[in-house]
Amino acid sequence: MSVNQFIKPVTTERKDCLYIGGCNLYELAQKYSTPLYVIDEETLRRVCHEYKSAFNDYPNVKMMYASKALCTSAIARILDSEGFGFDTVSAGEIYTVYKAGADMSKVLFNGNNKTQREIELALDLNVGRFSVDNFYEAELLNKLALQKEKNVKILLRVTPGIECHTHDYIKTGQSDSKFGFDISQIDKIVELILDKYKNIDLKGIHAHIGSQIFELQSYSDEVQILIDELNRINNKFSLNLNELNIGGGLGVKYTNSDQPPSISDFAKSIHTVLNRCKSKPVVYIEPGRSIISTAGVTLYKVGSSKILPNKKYVALDGGMADNPRPSMYQAEYTAEVVNNTNGRSIEKVTLAGRFCESGDIIINDIELPELYPNDVVCIYNTGAYNYSMASNYNKAERPAMVLVNNSQSDMIVYRESLEDLIAKDNIPDRLRK
Ligand code: LLP
Repeated sequence: MSVNQFIKPVTTERKDCLYIGGCNLYELAQKYSTPLYVIDEETLRRVCHEYKSAFNDYPNVKMMYASKALCTSAIARILDSEGFGFDTVSAGEIYTVYKAGADMSKVLFNGNNKTQREIELALDLNVGRFSVDNFYEAELLNKLALQKEKNVKILLRVTPGIECHTHDYIKTGQSDSKFGFDISQIDKIVELILDKYKNIDLKGIHAHIGSQIFELQSYSDEVQILIDELNRINNKFSLNLNELNIGGGLGVKYTNSDQPPSISDFAKSIHTVLNRCKSKPVVYIEPGRSIISTAGVTLYKVGSSKILPNKKYVALDGGMADNPRPSMYQAEYTAEVVNNTNGRSIEKVTLAGRFCESGDIIINDIELPELYPNDVVCIYNTGAYNYSMASNYNKAERPAMVLVNNSQSDMIVYRESLEDLIAKDNIPDRLRK
C-alpha cells in the first residue's frame, strides 16, 4: 500500500504502549512535554522514494515539495537530501530552505502577491524559477531583475478551470480563483514578455487545482488542458516552451472513510496523458500534504472532562492553536491512546481543545478507552498544515517538534517559552512605570 493510504506512520507499533520510529511515545511526551509534534523520518523518506519511483517511467519529471505544508530547517534538509526541490510562497520559506542548504536552482517562488522585498530576496538567492501570477508581478519582476542585471526564468500561473471535490477553501483551479492568469489572459502576458520584459525568460506554465484531492480524473483533465495550452502558445508565438508544473494536491487518509488513490495510480493517470502527447515537456510536481502528513502525529495530555447526559468532553492540552484544521475546514482525524489502557471500557467522547472558542474541538464523537488525566493521546496525520498554520492564540507557546528514527529522537523545533511570547513586545517609554 502507498504511504498516503495509511492513517499511521509506517513504523507505528503497539507493544505495552504506542511506538513510532522505535520510540515509546509515552516517554517522548514525558521527556519533551506536550503538545508535541512527532515526525517519523522513515515514513517521510519512504513517501519520497515512492514518489520518485512512481514518476520514474516518465523521463522528465522533477519533484518538488510544497514547503507550506511544513517548513522547518531539518525537514528541508531531508527533502533536499532526497533530491526534491521546493515550492515556496514567502521570504520566510525561501530563507528557511536556503539556510538549510537546499539547492536554490530547484526552488520555485510562487504566490499571488509577492512583495518587492520578497522578489529581491528571491533574486539575490538565485531561486530557480518564479511562477508569475499576474500582470503587476510580471512588470515588477522584470524591473527588479533589470536593476540586478539578472535574467529570470519563469512559469506563468494559470487557472485551468477545473472544479474538484474538496473543501471550498482549498480549491484553486476553478476559473474564478484568486490565483493566476485566466486562460483568456495568457496571450496578452506572453506578448508583454516577448515585446517588453526582456529580463524575463518564459519557460512554461504552472497550475494547481486544489488540495486533498481524491479524483484522478481531475489531474488527467488538468494535464491535458495544460499540454493543449502549451502547444497553442508555442504555435501562436513560434516558441518552444517545454515546462509544465502541475501543482500538488493528492489527498491522504485522515479517517477510515477516506480512500485516496495511491501515489503510483496518481502518477499513472498523469503518465497516460503525457504519453499521448508528441512533445515531451519537463513536468514538475509539487505535493505537500501527501509527502509529510502521514509522517506526523501530535501528542497531547488529557486534562479535564465534562460529562453531560448525552455527551462527554475530554479536554486535551492543545487544540486550535497547534491544529486549526478542524475549526477551519471541519477536518476529521483519528486518535489512539498512547499508554496502556488494558481493562478499561470503551466509550464515546469528544476530544476538546483548550482554547477559548466553542469551535475548538479536535475530534467529535470518537470511541476510545475511558480517559483519565495525564493519559497521552496521539492524533494521526498531523504532519501537514498543523505546525505550519499554528498560532499563538490565547498567548499559547507553540509546541516542540521531534524527529524519530531507529529508536532515536531529536528535537527539530524547540518549544516556545513564555519569554519567546513577549520577546517582540515593546512598551513605549511614556507607558513605563
Ligand atoms: N502547489 C501550490 C501552488 C499550492 O498552492 C499548494 C497548496 C500545493 C502545491 C500543495 O498542495 P498539497 O499537495 O499540500 O495539497 N491549509 C489547507 C491546505 C492549503 C493548500 C494550499 N496550497 C489545509 O490544511 O487543508
